[in-house]
Amino acid sequence: MRKKIVAGNWKMNKSWPEALELAQALAAHKDSFPSHVSVLIAPPALYLSGLKEALPSSIALSAQNCSQHDSGAYTGEISASMLATIGVTHCIIGHSERRQYYGETNEIVREKIDACLRHGITPIFCCGESLSERKFNKHFITVSNQLQQALFHLSAEQLPQVVIAYEPVWAIGTGVTATNEQAEEMHAFIRDFVAENYVDTVANSISILYGGSVNAANAAELFACPNVDGGLVGGASLKAADFTTIIQAAQ
Ligand code: PGA
Repeated sequence: MRKKIVAGNWKMNKSWPEALELAQALAAHKDSFPSHVSVLIAPPALYLSGLKEALPSSIALSAQNCSQHDSGAYTGEISASMLATIGVTHCIIGHSERRQYYGETNEIVREKIDACLRHGITPIFCCGESLSERKFNKHFITVSNQLQQALFHLSAEQLPQVVIAYEPVWAIGTGVTATNEQAEEMHAFIRDFVAENYVDTVANSISILYGGSVNAANAAELFACPNVDGGLVGGASLKAADFTTIIQAAQ
């Protein structure tokens, strides 16, 4: 079953008191969240266990990244198994900022997806094209390569345990949102591509989120697109009222 999901990616923002205040402000709105929408926040890793204590069970926690390794001499890294032991349920994997600034290749992303699945963490797999790829009409090729190289080694039983987030790089943090038509076109392409490589039931059970300058004003239209199952929200998730409006838009 495709699930409606709205996830807030806080990135590297907020002091600890500010993070706690934001989480509490969001929690105060929880009764207004539609019951069929899964709500997640992805704060900086340092705050995950503190926020676990502060949040109601209706708001789940996601990490923004994890190691592809389970344990060992990897200074500064956090493993999926560690995340699982403190009650984190999801992890963003392969965000374009990780690919761009930290050299994450499709190969590394694939290993991280596997690490998450080994430990019962739901990976939120990010894919999406750059502005020049879009301009040169290469967006479908880019996204299909990312899917093939990082995701399609999974079995038909495993794939529906992954959430896909389509995030065109040119729309992230820029205020330039994909049009509803552009979002729907790519989401339909991704779902068809999954169906071609697996079967229809797999394609129809995977949630595909849109990310890239989602805000309180445009969320309802984007989420109304037939193949858009919710959003991965950056900047607008840092304001409790705006993020609540976005959650409510995922009808
Ligand atoms: P944005 O970020 O909503 O600020 O564009 C989205 C993301 O990077 O996940």
